[in-house]
Amino acid sequence: MTTSLLLQLLFLLPFVSAFVHPGLLVTSSDITRIKTKLAAQLDPWQSSWNKLISIKYSQSTYTNNAVSSVYRDTVGDVHANAQNLWHDAAAAFNLGLRWKVEGDPQFAKAAANILTAWGEKLTNFDIGDDKYLTTGLQGHQLVNAAELIRDYAPFADSGLKTFTDMFSNVILTKNMFFLNHEAGSEHNPKHFFANWELCNMASVMAFGVFTENQTLFDFSVEYFKTGIGNGAINNAISNLVREPGTGKVIGQPQESGRDQGHTGLDFQLLGVIAQQAWNQGVDLYSYNSSRILLGAEYYARYNLGNDVPFVNYTNGIVFYDQISSASRGAYRPTWELLYAHYAQIKGLDVPWTEQYKNHTVESMGGFEGGAGSWGEGSGHYDGLGWGSLLYHLDSSDVDALSSPTGQTSSISSSSAVLTGATAHSDISSSTSVSPVSTFIPTTTTLSSALAPGTTFATSTSSTSSTASASSTTYIYEYDCGF
Ligand SMILES: *[C@@H]1O[C@H](CO)[C@@H](O)[C@H](O)[C@H]1NC(C)=O
Ligand SMILES: *[C@@H]1O[C@H](CO)[C@@H](O)[C@H](O)[C@H]1NC(C)=O
Ligand SMILES: *[C@@H]1O[C@H](CO)[C@@H](O)[C@H](O)[C@H]1NC(C)=O
Ligand SMILES: *[C@@H]1O[C@H](CO)[C@@H](O)[C@H](O)[C@H]1NC(C)=O
Repeated sequence: MTTSLLLQLLFLLPFVSAFVHPGLLVTSSDITRIKTKLAAQLDPWQSSWNKLISIKYSQSTYTNNAVSSVYRDTVGDVHANAQNLWHDAAAAFNLGLRWKVEGDPQFAKAAANILTAWGEKLTNFDIGDDKYLTTGLQGHQLVNAAELIRDYAPFADSGLKTFTDMFSNVILTKNMFFLNHEAGSEHNPKHFFANWELCNMASVMAFGVFTENQTLFDFSVEYFKTGIGNGAINNAISNLVREPGTGKVIGQPQESGRDQGHTGLDFQLLGVIAQQAWNQGVDLYSYNSSRILLGAEYYARYNLGNDVPFVNYTNGIVFYDQISSASRGAYRPTWELLYAHYAQIKGLDVPWTEQYKNHTVESMGGFEGGAGSWGEGSGHYDGLGWGSLLYHLDSSDVDALSSPTGQTSSISSSSAVLTGATAHSDISSSTSVSPVSTFIPTTTTLSSALAPGTTFATSTSSTSSTASASSTTYIYEYDCGF
């Protein structure tokens, strides 16, 4: 369909939502791919699926553990019970996924019962700041589960409103309060480590999509780009440094002087935020020279046992003058997603991220598990996981890829990537690629129209480049120095 025809159709159908459903961590095309792989009994999808359907959090007989007050911390007579919520969120998501893949309504019904029960009961959290971890971590998970059964009629008819009202009053208000820096304990806007803000951003974004609230969706995208706290990407990946040996730019993560476990959580949550946005046609992966990737490369290189430069870091409260080796090599299910996106969808060179994906998959027994399948304790439930099931692509999938609409040109650190052109004639000698960050100093002009596979030169340097194409998406890469 041509762009103008598409625009005309949109004009004629003014009430059609701009939001795609399901459009958070799972899309219809993900479901289609999973079904195809399972029909052919291919791995890693089949092993992942066998694990998913074997655990107690994926059974239609699962009963909810909803309570009115969720506490992460035991204080005096009040006992921590947040596992009730993270177990139930994992179950609601797994059951929603089973319904989408298997089509049996008993799974959607079980997921709806869980979400409705929490909608009826939840009102309160810890007195201290740890409640903001619950509202972010479990907040984005609950909405991801709800998004999967959004079109299950019995839920749409009743439970959905109960769930949505609770979420809006009890969780979203705290997400927003926290991200608007109203928490009294904040000594300054960078007081909280990145993961605290990232999970709340993921929650706001998810709820914006689920309820088709553009204001909420835009708020989280804007916070990612220009927020003043550590969840904003330029603060979450706080410093750019050069990789020893190659001289490539990599990004020092905000929590890397603290420990590697929390830094890994940042990449898990950045993956959630970027994927949720991507599925709505907004590319945060490529934002500011693919800053998420620059950080992932730094993290993966260090956690695989290699050296990295470290820039002194302070937020006014903590000060680090060296990287922390605490929990070095820790893994979390997120690297399948980052690898699939950057290496396979964008066609970028991601050597450390690829190795870390392999390290994670091997450490987890052949595939990335999900919440409820790879251990207990809060860290195992910070994200929903199942990366090998949801995101792993083989070469046939890569060939079939087409770009989501609305992507714009972007530049990555060691290569500039222009995506979203629907034909290579869109790129001509007059196409100029403007730097999106200050560390790429010049505007670069491509020398001529390019066919996929062509090597070409840029006006700024003598380095050669390659154009590549997959389906209708043409990706032009060239080396632009820094
Ligand atoms: C979007 O969410 C905000 C925050 O809850 C709310 O104030 C606003 O009314 C919502 N907008 C729409 C169009 O529902
Ligand atoms: C980093 O901090 C250390 C103190 O721990 C100090 O000696 C060093 O000069 C600092 N480096 C820079 C570049 O400021
Ligand atoms: C990662 O694992 C895949 C599959 O086993 C293998 O083909 C690839 O070479 C590995 N990559 C690296 C960088 O070790
Ligand atoms: C990109 O990162 C650079 C270096 O940290 C920063 O100066 C610049 O403001 C960022 N640009 C955007 C658009 O976020």
